[in-house]
Amino acid sequence: PLKAPNVQELAKQQLATIPPQYIQDNVEKTSYYNSSMLLPQIPVIDMEQLLHGHDHDSELDRLHFACKEWGFFQVVNHGVSISLMEKLKSEIQAFFDLPLEEKKKFEQQEGSIEGFGHDFVFSEEQKLDWIDLFYITTLPVYLRQPHLFPRLPLSLRDTLEAHSQEFKNLAISILNQMAKALKMDEKEMRDLYTDGMQLLRMNYYPPCPEPDRTYGLNPHSDTDALTILMHLNKTEGLQVRKDNTWVPVKSLPNALTVNIGDMMEILSNGVYKSIEHRVIVNSKERRLSLATFYTFNHDSELGPALSLTGSNNPPIFRRTNLAKSLEIFSKRKINGKSFVDIVK
Ligand code: SIN
Ligand code: FE2
Repeated sequence: PLKAPNVQELAKQQLATIPPQYIQDNVEKTSYYNSSMLLPQIPVIDMEQLLHGHDHDSELDRLHFACKEWGFFQVVNHGVSISLMEKLKSEIQAFFDLPLEEKKKFEQQEGSIEGFGHDFVFSEEQKLDWIDLFYITTLPVYLRQPHLFPRLPLSLRDTLEAHSQEFKNLAISILNQMAKALKMDEKEMRDLYTDGMQLLRMNYYPPCPEPDRTYGLNPHSDTDALTILMHLNKTEGLQVRKDNTWVPVKSLPNALTVNIGDMMEILSNGVYKSIEHRVIVNSKERRLSLATFYTFNHDSELGPALSLTGSNNPPIFRRTNLAKSLEIFSKRKINGKSFVDIVK
């Protein structure tokens, strides 16, 4: 793969126009922002109510509805401490504020997406997003890259260590509740995530001189089982596809945004939806966010849950070895196929 330029440095040059590689087709910014319609919003789920409340059943219904109809929701009372969230904000911001030479010590190496850099660039023609990235695997611990995690600034490393555990606990309780809402065998779910991966992507979107001609992130769906997204500053930009319009996500204070990934769509036999989303940029403010991805165990045979399917609910996806399908997928990704397409 080729190397994409560092967008943060590019943005410092005070360009009047963006380089041609960033100019993307069909960037239409129409959303509910521009309409007089009442703003719909992604549903909000109260984890405390879901786990321990006397209104558990109705909260579980709301979760089920959110996963079926939106594929996205915000969680409040999620158990991740405010102090950890504040540290994530300041530490990750501090990382991107380091001089380029410092960040380059963590640069992506040949053949690996992990590290500081960009999504893979396969050709000169490929359109680029207005974003710098830092990918890092945090769990399971034996998959941490020796040249990355242990070499991070100490304060960031400590913060990510705390993040690994607190976010994992949240992801597991959400997956367990989804199993319950789907009426799936809870052990079947548990067996899928015991050795799943937690992969972080820190996102930095600099201000852009021509925000109407490019994306921070192209429309895409996530390949993983579940994504937990944290907004690291106040700048908005995430939009979710709903009934053929783009709905901007307005993050509630201290809330986290959760979305269904392709693996969960497959497991639920298509009941839960992995929904397209995108990030738009603006000319004034930078945006920072942290996406935490959870996959199912790579050695698992993933298909529609056995406890959900049968003669009156036939599986709509094939059962495949997850690691093998992911490998096939990563080679085809460039053609715009989503992961669910390859197991159809
Ligand atoms: C995403 O990971 O798809 C969205 C990231 C963001 O909201 O910045
Ligand atoms: Fe995403």
